[in-house]
Amino acid sequence: MRVLGIETSCDETAVAIVEAPAGDGPVTSRPVGRILANVVYSQLAEHRRFGGVVPEIAARAHLERLDGLVGEALADAGLGLADLDGIAATGGPGLIGGVLVGVMTAKALAFAHDKPFLAINHLEGHALSVRLTEDVAFPYLLLLVSGGHCQLLTVRGPDSQGGDFTRLGTTIDDAVGECFDKTAKLLGLGFPGGPAVEKTAIGGDAQRFALPRPLWRKPGCDFSFSGLKTAVRQIAEKLPPDDPRAVADLCASFQRTVGDVLADRCANALALAPSPVLVVAGGVAANAYLRGRLATLAASHGARLVAPPPKLCTDNGAMIAWAGIERLRLGLTDGLDFRPRPRWPLDPGIEARP
Ligand code: KG4
Ligand code: ZN
Repeated sequence: MRVLGIETSCDETAVAIVEAPAGDGPVTSRPVGRILANVVYSQLAEHRRFGGVVPEIAARAHLERLDGLVGEALADAGLGLADLDGIAATGGPGLIGGVLVGVMTAKALAFAHDKPFLAINHLEGHALSVRLTEDVAFPYLLLLVSGGHCQLLTVRGPDSQGGDFTRLGTTIDDAVGECFDKTAKLLGLGFPGGPAVEKTAIGGDAQRFALPRPLWRKPGCDFSFSGLKTAVRQIAEKLPPDDPRAVADLCASFQRTVGDVLADRCANALALAPSPVLVVAGGVAANAYLRGRLATLAASHGARLVAPPPKLCTDNGAMIAWAGIERLRLGLTDGLDFRPRPRWPLDPGIEARP
C-alpha cells in the first residue's frame, strides 16, 4: 500500500510517498513504513526578513512549488500516480491559504486518477508519525510540542470521528516552539529559533540564569510559558552587547528551564498514561537535549520514551502519508467535498481555542 502525502499548513511545502503492508485494520506488523520519497521545500528564505511566517507569502509559495515537488517525489520513488493507493493532504489546522493549496491539489490528483482522498489533521500526522519508524502500539501517552501547540494526550488511534484522542492538558498561553522562536529573535539568532537556540546553548552554563518555571509542581497537565518568555526578554534586554558567552548561557538556561517544565508536567501525565510509553512529537521534539530529559524522566517512571527521528519531528509529508496509510487501512477515506479547517482540535470534546 502506497500513499502520497502533502503538507502545506505552515512554511514547509512537503511531499512524501510512504509504503506499508496492505491489509485491513491497524498496522501491527513490524517494521512497518518505508519512505520511498520525502521532499521538503523550506520557505525560510522568503519569510526570514519578516522574522516570522507571513501567511500570504506562504500560500503563494506553496502554490508555486507544490506541483513540482509532487513530480519530484514520484521521480524519486520511481512511481507514477497510477501506482499509488491514496492521496493524503493536511486538511487543517494551519494557515488556511496553504491548507487550501494542498487540499485542492490532493483532491484534483485523487479525482483525476480515481484514488481515495484522505484529509489529515496535521496534529494527527505528528501524533502517529512515531509509528512510521518505531515499534509503538496504541494506546500511548503523547507530548505534542510544536510551533503552535503544546499538549499532552492519550492516543488510541484514528477512527471515523476524527480520532480517539483524549487531551490531558494544553498550554494556557504560548506554545513551546513559539517560545524558542521568540528567544532566538530577542538574541538575534535568526528564524526558526529552535535549532538556533539548541546550537547556541551547547557549551553554555545552564545554571547561570534562574528563570521562572510556570505551574511547577502544580497538579494537572497544563502548561504555561508566557512568564518564562517575559523573563527571558527582561534578561536579554540587559545583556551587554557582543557577549556571546552570556547569549550561550541564556540559551542553555532557557532550554534547561523548558526541560524542567516539560518533565514536571509529563510526570503528572505519566500517572494517567494508558501504557508505559511516552511519545514525544512535533518540531520541538527534534531537540536532543529535551529528548534526553524526557528519556530520563520516562525511565524514572518505569516507562520508555519513543520519538520519531529528528527529521520527521518537524513538518514533513511523510507523517501525512503515514497517517493516510493508517486511515486507509481502516477504510476511513474522505469525500471530495471535504472543507479545509483552519481550527481542528484533536480531541473532539474540546472547543478550538480562539
Ligand atoms: O512541528 P513544526 O515543524 O511546525 C508546527 O506544526 O508548528 O514545529 C516548528 C517549531 C518551531 O517553533 C521551531 O523553532 C521548533 O519547532 N523547533 C525546535 C527545534 N527544531 C524545530 N525547537 C527546539 N529545538 C529544536 N531543535
Ligand atoms: Zn507541525
